[in-house]
Amino acid sequence: MDARQAAVADSEQIERVLARLGKRCIVLVGMMGAGKTSIGRRLANLLHLPFLDADSEIEKAANLSIAEIFAAYGEAHFREGEKRVVMRLLSNGPAVLATGGGAYLNEETRQRCRTEGVTIWLKADVPVLLERVRKKGNRPLLERDDPESVMRRLLSEREPVYAEADIVIASREGPHHAVVGEVLAALDAFLADRVPHER
Ligand code: S3P
Repeated sequence: MDARQAAVADSEQIERVLARLGKRCIVLVGMMGAGKTSIGRRLANLLHLPFLDADSEIEKAANLSIAEIFAAYGEAHFREGEKRVVMRLLSNGPAVLATGGGAYLNEETRQRCRTEGVTIWLKADVPVLLERVRKKGNRPLLERDDPESVMRRLLSEREPVYAEADIVIASREGPHHAVVGEVLAALDAFLADRVPHER
């Protein structure tokens, strides 16, 4: 396939995914540092869909940073706000929605993500996750104890729940555009299985 044919194939794939997605959101779930925001933004650009970031929307609604919300009101309060915000964003589809790492753990949120969206778990190993969050220092859950042991504990608790997502994609080190291509191909295959083919 030459470059022109590849571009046509891509645009056909994009059209197909958009047509079959309908009003649903593409919901990215997974740990802190999995790449939900950066991959999500690229995917939204490629599909010409709005990009919605749950963490930013929570911060906007509270007029506080996530670290400030945790410090002033505690995690339970943050989780309530997170649930409300994700529920609201889900009704704004079609869009690409990046959730915070804990959002999908809430049973009600998870069910809504699954009925009103196509869920994708961006799966990464602890060293990759740690390397990506290391530079930022904006994750309150990693500020208390040793970040590596917290990350390992959270990952082992959460993995079985993330695994309920419709699609699982390995988010490795390396260029994000390669992962975006894999996400698009996986969406195409997943949606094709559930929507009758046009003839
Ligand atoms: C959290 C992940 C963060 C943010 C908050 C809690 C978690 O979002 O919502 O710090 O529980 O894993 P990212 O996954 O976007 O870092």
